[in-house]
Amino acid sequence: MSRTFWAPGRVNLIGEHTDYTGGLALPVALDLGITIRGDATDGPSRLESPDGDPQRYADAVAAELDALGRPPVGFEGRIESTLPIGAGLSSSAALEVAVATALCAVADWPLEPLQLAEAAQRAEHRATGMPCGIMDQAASVLGRAGHAILLDTGTLMYEAVPLPEELALVVVDSGVRRRLEHSGYATRRAELERALAGADDPVSLRRLRHVETENERVREVAAILRTEPVDRARLGELFRAGHESLRDDFEVSVPELDELVDLAYAAGAAAARMTGGGFGGSIVALVETDRSAAFVDDVVGRYGGSATAWLAHAADGAREMTRGT
Ligand code: GLA
Repeated sequence: MSRTFWAPGRVNLIGEHTDYTGGLALPVALDLGITIRGDATDGPSRLESPDGDPQRYADAVAAELDALGRPPVGFEGRIESTLPIGAGLSSSAALEVAVATALCAVADWPLEPLQLAEAAQRAEHRATGMPCGIMDQAASVLGRAGHAILLDTGTLMYEAVPLPEELALVVVDSGVRRRLEHSGYATRRAELERALAGADDPVSLRRLRHVETENERVREVAAILRTEPVDRARLGELFRAGHESLRDDFEVSVPELDELVDLAYAAGAAAARMTGGGFGGSIVALVETDRSAAFVDDVVGRYGGSATAWLAHAADGAREMTRGT
């Protein structure tokens, strides 16, 4: 008998590069993600995929769960993904969380969702060396349909924040992929840690200013989303300020993302900014639902490169789908 497990990718509304210093983030789990079909095996765990090599992620997740005491039950399965890779939508976190969900289930060994997310985060460190925070894996386990997740990465407290029905969530993938994404991320993290330890050179002060102002923006965006009618003008200002802070103070944007954000506002977005770690990837926009189809055509048509855009939907987090073949 085969079993099916699912874990979503995420798009972050706001709160970028705050999750490794105990700050706030507001991610949304997507209706795009990773499906794993398979079952327990007597032999070692094996995962196959039509694209890429998931085995090193699977091995890293298994090692982290074994360290927590998971009974040694192997899993053999096949992976399918509906997430574009490298678009900044956390395809690797979704893979780690899906594998962890499957490994816990076949061993009949339940783990608290946030403990599972933390094991998946450590697996990312182990498999790739990328010193990521907890946001992506937490969003993948905590996601809730129709909601964003306000996550305090210092306390791991979280609340679901409803997304207004009149605003559609649009993701635009710039098509830009940077090979240096991981080392750029590690450099920024180290710079921020130096700043927090008291360095007061101009670069450190700008890195710190980004994080401090970004945490305030997350608080304000969450409050706006919870208040009817949604203050679109202020939402737009906060997203724009968030983008500019990532561009100028944290220096993780690229010209293509800046261009897409400008095009999004010109095409009538209520709010738009780059999303994810940066150095390429995607922007996120909130657009009046009635205008979202025209918006997508407009932004993609005017962009200098080759972008892919789609309407995204906030979905539930990782789980086992109905059992059976
Ligand atoms: C990547 C990391 C996350 C987070 C974001 C930036 O997605 O995996 O932990 O730091 O970048 O907000």
